Amino acid sequence: MDSILVKGGARLQGAIPIAGAKNACLTLMPATLLTHEPLTLTNAPRLSDIRTMTALLQSLGAEVASLQNGQVLALSSHDINNHRADYDIVRKMRASILVLGPMLARDGHAVVSLPGGCAIGARPVDLHLRALEAMGAELDLRDGYVHAKAPAGLRGAVVEFPFVSVGATENALMAATLAKGTTVLKNAAREPEIVDLARCLRQMGAQIDGEGTSTITIQGVDRLGGATHPVVTDRIELGTYMLAPAITGGEVECLGGRLELVAAFAEKLHEAGIDVIETERGLKVSRRNGRVNAVNVVTEPFPGFPTDLQAQMMALLCTAEGESVLEERIFENRFMHAPELMRMGARIDVHGGTAKVKGVDRLRGAPVMATDLRASVSLILAALAAEGETLVNRVYHLDRGYERVEEKLRACGATIERVKGE
Ligand code: UD1
Repeated sequence: MDSILVKGGARLQGAIPIAGAKNACLTLMPATLLTHEPLTLTNAPRLSDIRTMTALLQSLGAEVASLQNGQVLALSSHDINNHRADYDIVRKMRASILVLGPMLARDGHAVVSLPGGCAIGARPVDLHLRALEAMGAELDLRDGYVHAKAPAGLRGAVVEFPFVSVGATENALMAATLAKGTTVLKNAAREPEIVDLARCLRQMGAQIDGEGTSTITIQGVDRLGGATHPVVTDRIELGTYMLAPAITGGEVECLGGRLELVAAFAEKLHEAGIDVIETERGLKVSRRNGRVNAVNVVTEPFPGFPTDLQAQMMALLCTAEGESVLEERIFENRFMHAPELMRMGARIDVHGGTAKVKGVDRLRGAPVMATDLRASVSLILAALAAEGETLVNRVYHLDRGYERVEEKLRACGATIERVKGE
């Protein structure tokens, strides 16, 4: 297993290109299952999660060609000859459940294993299932699989989510495009990835209104066609690299970054004393001399502070002046990075969903273990600012969501390399 070795202390200076969003691409790819025509995604990120979704779609009979060095994905679901998404692939990635809605909507039946994914809490899929049931799906849960049928097709329904779920909104949105009649999704997720999905579906011929608000209305159509769609910028990769100069000092321009994708997060950086300015090419982030200020953070659905940037923000606050309180409201058990940061000298006290971070002058390098995707990159950020060397083990989590991380950071002056494992 590969590790990443970081020698901390360098102030970062330069530019980092931000890739297309992993989470958007993972929901756009299953949209191919809604149509017999080709779907082409440009600006795709090159990540192991994308390869997992590719393998899953191929196992169903879809064709997925990776072109232009992986930045373009050409998908076709002309011949879906298998409607069973197997445990062996699904267990690797929770987003696999997103094939359920489209397959069911187009062909009236699907069998999908219940998913695995990051070890950050229970993460059930009950909201996905309830939404599909409301649209007339007959579901049977046995042997770890969801067996779903809609022999006469799905029908439009009013679905009110009891709380906001990104994945359940995406599954229901895709399924509703081919349902008979009108579907109204209430308390829907408002994430930019949902807006991106709705734009792509609309280009495929879907009739959708209200994406980006908490009520989405979908008028079902008989069939969808093909489309070519550029994947929206990855706001989590963007936020992660915005934190790099914030934690080390220096100035980095995140190319392709847009403020509206990370407004709540940028506001917290500002409170911490970090400058964020919009440029023609993206967002430029710089830190003046001296320590950053402590700030309090509460994770919330979009447009609130994203849970996927909580671990990275914690890394920054480990060296802030004073005490910061981070409250995690989306996932239980999402502070697994805290004990690892403490190995580097951080002072963190975790109680349930709240972490109190008392800033220290300086973190120190140590061998640490990446426990999930965002935790792994928070350790790399901490390592960039720490005194001495840090070896981050188990970086396969990192490769699920960040492409060429060493290269991007090295280009800004970081001393970072991958140590190949067996
Ligand atoms: C997506 C993102 C993930 C991000 C999360 C929250 C993808 C591929 N992943 O995950 O990176 O951290 O949004 O922004 O886009 N829940 C239920 N029942 C359900 C569905 C969800 O109880 O049926 C709970 C989850 O356990 C969690 C909360 O709802 O506590 C929010 O989860 P959700 O928004 O669905 O996250 P994902 O779509 O899995």
